[in-house]
Amino acid sequence: RAIHRLDYRPPAFLVDSADLHFDLDPAATVVRSTLVLRRNPKAEDRHAPLRLDGEGLTLLGIKVDGVPFPKTHYTLGEDGSLTVPNPSDILVLETEVRIAPEENTAFSGLYTSGGNFYTQCEAEGFRRITFFPDRPDVMTRFTVAITADKARYPVLLSNGNPAGAGDGEGGKHWAKWEDPHPKPSYLFALVAGDLVAVSDYFTTKSGRDVVLNIWVRAGDEDKCAYAMDSLKRSMKWDEEVYGFEYDLDVFNIAAVSDFNMGAMENKGLNVFNTKFVLAKPDTATDGDYQGVETVIAHEYFHNWTGNRVTCRDWFQLSLKEGLTVFRDQQFSGDQGSRAVKRIRDVRGLRAAQFPEDAGPMAHPVRPDSYIEIDNFYTPTVYQKGAEVVRLLHTRIGAQAFRRGMDLYVERHDNSAATIEDFRAAMQDASGVDLSAFAKWYEQAGTPEVTAEGEYDEAARRYTLTLRQKTPPTPGQPEKRPLPIPVAMGLLDAGTGREQPTRLQGENEARTGTRTLMLEDAEARFVFEDVPAPPVPSLLRGFSAPVKLKGLPLDQLRTLAARDTDPFTRWDSGQQYAAAVMLGMVAAHRRGEPPGFDPALAEAVRANLAGADADPAFAAEALPLPGEGFLADQMDLADPEAIHLVRRHLRRRIGAECADALRETYERLADTGPYSPDGASIGRRSLRNACLAYLAAAGEDGMRLARAQFDAAANMTDVLAALSLLAESEEHGPAALAAFHARWRGDELVVDKWFSIQAMSAQAGTAARVRELQRHPDFSLRNPNRVRSLLGAFASGNPYRFHNRSGEGYALLADAVIALDPINASTAARLVGPLGLWRRQAPPLSGMMRRELERVLAAPNLSKGTYEKASKGLA
Ligand code: ARG
Ligand code: ZN
Repeated sequence: RAIHRLDYRPPAFLVDSADLHFDLDPAATVVRSTLVLRRNPKAEDRHAPLRLDGEGLTLLGIKVDGVPFPKTHYTLGEDGSLTVPNPSDILVLETEVRIAPEENTAFSGLYTSGGNFYTQCEAEGFRRITFFPDRPDVMTRFTVAITADKARYPVLLSNGNPAGAGDGEGGKHWAKWEDPHPKPSYLFALVAGDLVAVSDYFTTKSGRDVVLNIWVRAGDEDKCAYAMDSLKRSMKWDEEVYGFEYDLDVFNIAAVSDFNMGAMENKGLNVFNTKFVLAKPDTATDGDYQGVETVIAHEYFHNWTGNRVTCRDWFQLSLKEGLTVFRDQQFSGDQGSRAVKRIRDVRGLRAAQFPEDAGPMAHPVRPDSYIEIDNFYTPTVYQKGAEVVRLLHTRIGAQAFRRGMDLYVERHDNSAATIEDFRAAMQDASGVDLSAFAKWYEQAGTPEVTAEGEYDEAARRYTLTLRQKTPPTPGQPEKRPLPIPVAMGLLDAGTGREQPTRLQGENEARTGTRTLMLEDAEARFVFEDVPAPPVPSLLRGFSAPVKLKGLPLDQLRTLAARDTDPFTRWDSGQQYAAAVMLGMVAAHRRGEPPGFDPALAEAVRANLAGADADPAFAAEALPLPGEGFLADQMDLADPEAIHLVRRHLRRRIGAECADALRETYERLADTGPYSPDGASIGRRSLRNACLAYLAAAGEDGMRLARAQFDAAANMTDVLAALSLLAESEEHGPAALAAFHARWRGDELVVDKWFSIQAMSAQAGTAARVRELQRHPDFSLRNPNRVRSLLGAFASGNPYRFHNRSGEGYALLADAVIALDPINASTAARLVGPLGLWRRQAPPLSGMMRRELERVLAAPNLSKGTYEKASKGLA
């Protein structure tokens, strides 16, 4: 039942135009479609039947070239598709179907949420709306007419530009939309209902006035300012950096509470999860603000990378997603601190993509096969895909990259392209042979790089040997070496100063970072005129998505204190702490006392002393590496030992550095109104990182957290305090109750209330998560709520999820089984953590397996959940 990349065939028919008419009704919406179809001159089989995808459609009528089409001339397949075995080469096909949006709990296709209508068509939702060749290489001009009850659905939106509106009979009204740009069906959108707009405008560089609307429920208007501001900055940035200008008269964004993912880039009508639109200081955290900015930018940037140039087939998904994530990362970096943005992105990659690459679902950035494409909207396709685009950018430089983008769009505008097309454009524009980079798209797994340095005092020569190795992944036992750019410099071991570097064969020494290319399994780089044994600073800026392993502790300490590259400075500090903590974990497992490395407290003090120069950076460097990051560095994880060691260390550092922490905490107190700019966010994160140590150290800190919880005027500080209080038997229950009472009417804040409890280290957490599923505010039907409770527990609380009782696993499996018939896409995402059983020691691994087997045995399992569970067991 798997689909294979190499089976791609061009479509038999193209659709020149699609005229759609919707008569909206929650229980019975009627969709009339007129398709002008024509045989594809590039199709292989000139006599292939005409096949249109369909799913759950009730066919009411069908005509060909204006004449009713007899039943004998077409067939309806088991899968819901419609086939015309002997079509003429050009035909006009009219269909009329009925669908029931209010019964659509999968939120794919046309569905209702809070009484309004919304669509989600990527990847294969359009077939749940009408019959159509639902594949991205069929690009069509769409016109859409919507008719609906005027009182209940005053707003009627679709893609493109407005093309008329008016009143009809029986209290109905209608609106027409015309999208002048050909697009694949997955970019179709319709939104209708009782919504209000927050509006603004943007004038493009060539003078087009664009109306910008953010459509929300009445009452949410005061939460749209940051999204609007982010949108305008994105539009400007894309013009300045890439020359990409918006190409319609209106840009609509609609926010919806029931949404499977973050947001969707439908042409001219983006649909967003409310989580990534709505933000005001008392309900949204700094992290939420950053999420809004990033996702608004991401979806907007898709207008060129995704919509104008789309994907030939779903195996090319990273062509648009990797590239667009790269672009939104660049954008966010340009808005504030590049270094801090880079650190956060790498933290995210390591937390989500590295484990995926080491698990049963490991797949290349361009997958070779899938059962359910929905399962491949992954950290690998998105985040690793963005890293691979960054590799090309690093390899050819910013200017050539820009020329490559111009060429890519010039060649492929209004068409469906492949990852090869993108690389070819970059290669042709730069003149650099990029063929070896194809392997980054083809090979799964995270390469491991080791470095070995040898200093020859007599010859003043330093030889750096770099080696790479990628562990096997399912279906790919043998791995080839990849081209790995290693940005680096040399520090003088004594003074810690950066040295100029001259490679053997070069005439002059260079100062600053240089990039070595590791192309084979092993490469040697010989540096001349090195006056003393150096400390190599490697992988600056995280120049490739690899694991750099085995650097000696003394080198890490020097780099953490002295390197000129902020990423390496941060990373070396984290790697140093991780190495120490893993030593403590080993000691704990042997039953020995944990011990304490004073260098860790020293680093915290040094960090606080220098924090004023860049509080945001200090806030990244202050916390100890997370439990997941530590687990990933062990052969077999030990979540309990990791948690206990980390907790012990936090308490100890909190106590030893209490004065400095307290001083910083007080000095950085917020004055003035909330602002989500980088400097203010940095200050708040540093302050809350200090508070976390103080609270870990004991009751004084907890009282400080309680005071902050009571007094803070913004959600960032309230939530930071609440997450600490929730760990305390004394303060937790009252604080949680107060928070719920205060915010019960705001669903995005209630999500936070669920998450905090799900991520608590308290002994009763698994039982509490079970109990919370029966809370009146909980519902399996709302994906945000499911993620906030069950997703947070399974992915954000390794200590309690991997509780020895196995109750964490059982409750997750129960939830997956209950959710699968309601919303398979969200269920398939939820099952993921159980698939990582190989990372745990027995008896945990066995218990996880058994829960996966139980999921797999559930009747009528969706193909998405089946794929995840069966691959997890294989
Ligand atoms: N293209 C959207 C984005 O990256 C994500 C849509 C994913 N939809 C899905 N059903 N998996 O912004
Ligand atoms: Zn995207």
